[in-house]
Amino acid sequence: EKGGYDHFMEKEINEQPQSIKSALAGRIENGYPTIKELDSIKDFIKNDLEKIYIVACGTSYHAGYSMKYFVEAYSNINISLEVASEFRYMNPHVDDKTLVIAVSQSGETIDTLEGIRLAKQKGAHVLAMSNVVGSTIPRESHSVVYMNTGPEIGVAATKTYTAQISILYAIAAQIMNWKGYYTEEVKKIISELELIPDIYKEILSKKDHILELAREYTHYKHMMFIGRGFGYTASLEGALKLKEISYINANGYQAGELKHGPIALLDESFPVFAIVPFNGLREKMISNIMEVKARKARVIAISTKGDEKIKKITNEYIEVPKTSEAISPLTVAPVTQLFAYYVAILRNLDPDKPRNLAKSVTVE
Ligand code: M6R
Repeated sequence: EKGGYDHFMEKEINEQPQSIKSALAGRIENGYPTIKELDSIKDFIKNDLEKIYIVACGTSYHAGYSMKYFVEAYSNINISLEVASEFRYMNPHVDDKTLVIAVSQSGETIDTLEGIRLAKQKGAHVLAMSNVVGSTIPRESHSVVYMNTGPEIGVAATKTYTAQISILYAIAAQIMNWKGYYTEEVKKIISELELIPDIYKEILSKKDHILELAREYTHYKHMMFIGRGFGYTASLEGALKLKEISYINANGYQAGELKHGPIALLDESFPVFAIVPFNGLREKMISNIMEVKARKARVIAISTKGDEKIKKITNEYIEVPKTSEAISPLTVAPVTQLFAYYVAILRNLDPDKPRNLAKSVTVE
């Protein structure tokens, strides 16, 4: 059942060229999103929608973060994001002109479920995105988009995270299209989603390099992930994957926040993963990397192919194919997933059964 792999997590990471393809099947055509499940709310989106609220936990929240940045970067649509356990006890400003998108792989996370119950009471339209057909969150929502990635057994979300980002981008694009924001740039990003399966094959073919790298880092107690923009959303997920299965203390920070506190932690015992974007923020990241190096911390960069400058100034360099900036959380994901996986197995930990965690969190 593990298809020849040692662990479900390994199998699920390696399945991603295929799982992304199934997740997007019939959902993008000629650079345009075609999410049929949204057709019944087309009028609501066109005429009434004033605000989108994404509600989720853990990895699903990180996928939502990328969607928020995408929508904000390419439209004037008002979009908020909240961790479900906060949302349900706040006074979220949602009403009948709000679309609440509940992102939950399992469809059973209690905080997300309570969040949508609250949103419904306040009159919002609730759209669920889940990988489990017939689970509670989709059943209690007005609309549902299933992820179609096949079951995910490993406690660490991997293939469902990349499917979530892909489908959330397609949903975002459909909404942007109906709201009159379908620019050439958005179209280019949506077309690039279709290239992800091939990009993943290429990244996964270099997994031995990541294994060798992981070997050098298994004995550290702490690691930090930094990024800006879409690189920041990717760093949150990189840190979560590492901490939940390898028990290395890892956090993701906006690189610009370093000097507001986190930099005090850094010395030679505290390596930093720098997710370097491919646009104007790259220069800012170079300054951040220099600040980190000045504290003698080792730097592992994930950047785009052939970025000689980044290669020169960092201790380790992992390259991913160049895409639009918005796509970078997708290209970075298999790298940080494999890194976390290899560190865990090199530490003799079972990545499929991390201590204290459950696949589906149905209690508060
Ligand atoms: O099933 P959900 O997507 O609602 O689950 C949310 C989180 O519990 C989940 O993503 C958790 O953070 C994973 N263990 C991450 O790998």
